[in-house]
Amino acid sequence: MSRIGFQNFLKLQPLREAKTAEASGKMPEMDFFPNRLAALRHPSRQFVTVSRVEALTGNMNLYTLIPDADKGQTQLAPFEPGQYISVRFEIGEIRCSRPYSLCGSPSGNVYQIAVKAIPDGLCSVYARDHWTVGTRLEISAPEGTFVFQPLRDEKHILAIAGGSGITPFVSMAMDITGRNDGRTMTVLYGCRTPRDRAFGDVLDALCSASDGRLRTVYVFSEESRPGQRSGFIDESVIRESLQEHSSVFVSGPRKMIESVRGALQKIGLERKYTRMEVPGEAGRLETYPDAPGEVPEKVTLTVRMQGKVYTVRADPQATILRSLENAGIAVVSGCRSGVCGFCRSSLRSGNVFAPNQKEHEREADILYNQIHLCETYPLTDLELDVTGYPSGKEGKQNG
Ligand code: FES
Repeated sequence: MSRIGFQNFLKLQPLREAKTAEASGKMPEMDFFPNRLAALRHPSRQFVTVSRVEALTGNMNLYTLIPDADKGQTQLAPFEPGQYISVRFEIGEIRCSRPYSLCGSPSGNVYQIAVKAIPDGLCSVYARDHWTVGTRLEISAPEGTFVFQPLRDEKHILAIAGGSGITPFVSMAMDITGRNDGRTMTVLYGCRTPRDRAFGDVLDALCSASDGRLRTVYVFSEESRPGQRSGFIDESVIRESLQEHSSVFVSGPRKMIESVRGALQKIGLERKYTRMEVPGEAGRLETYPDAPGEVPEKVTLTVRMQGKVYTVRADPQATILRSLENAGIAVVSGCRSGVCGFCRSSLRSGNVFAPNQKEHEREADILYNQIHLCETYPLTDLELDVTGYPSGKEGKQNG
């Protein structure tokens, strides 16, 4: 190793200053692998084309999405089974997004989502009527923490699904049966009749090829035949499907989630072993048993967002998020069920009903009047500070 020597050492500072003065002042272009990886895994948005539409049971369609090469998209961000993407919609003046669980295999450069057309639904009906092969969509990166975590979870997963809540488990089942890493899974699937089993054939095929690593138990609420389980998913069915060490994932309608939560409490399963997800978004205020009886017909929302002030007349039966979107105001959102925190906003004045606030928000959020717009209903006129999409990303908003 050469030594600098004292005389040369004294010249170091002027030398450095001369080199600094010579430099262009422009950052050199450097390509670091971690940056490329981060951009691939967490893009701010992605562009896809519908490449296939298949009818599933019960008003549900399965859409296969491939990268939209015309928009420069060649690779889709990888995802963990159980995650979802948010799909952007522009329907007339309404600009909004809806989350859909990824229900295909996590290996491969395609996504699959299942969309159930809900009577009087906005986006689900729009998707059914307008999405065909070739439709181009803007979507988010995969999001969500409803995923198997090796450090936290047990090797046996008990997946409890109701109705269209089955979608995240299809992807998990594909993943578990596609690898041989010691994980096993029991899918407890509640639906009305055998004809309503969305993905029933896929699950049955995976089961038969799984060497016992995947098991399905169907519980039919509106049909009772010998050899079939009928009724609802209750404590006894859950007990039968639990193994000594199991992590429990639950996805389905809110009513089912509450009933399963009660059963798990009776069984004594620690909360750290359970994960709950309500697909879709919060319903009308009147669907909550503890909602206030009398609410005004209309309230006024005064919203400060990105230096502008918007005034919106809103129906208290709808969430604040819905009312803002209906007024053409594009608000940042993700899960639309109180979990991701993307729609967190400051309530400056007024009263609200937030049914799941204690469960989904941090104590500090509650203390400092932070609310999740996707799960909060206005009871009086409100003043709010809301996050909008960065300009240029979401386009125009009307006031
Ligand atoms: S959109 Fe996820 S918490 Fe509101």
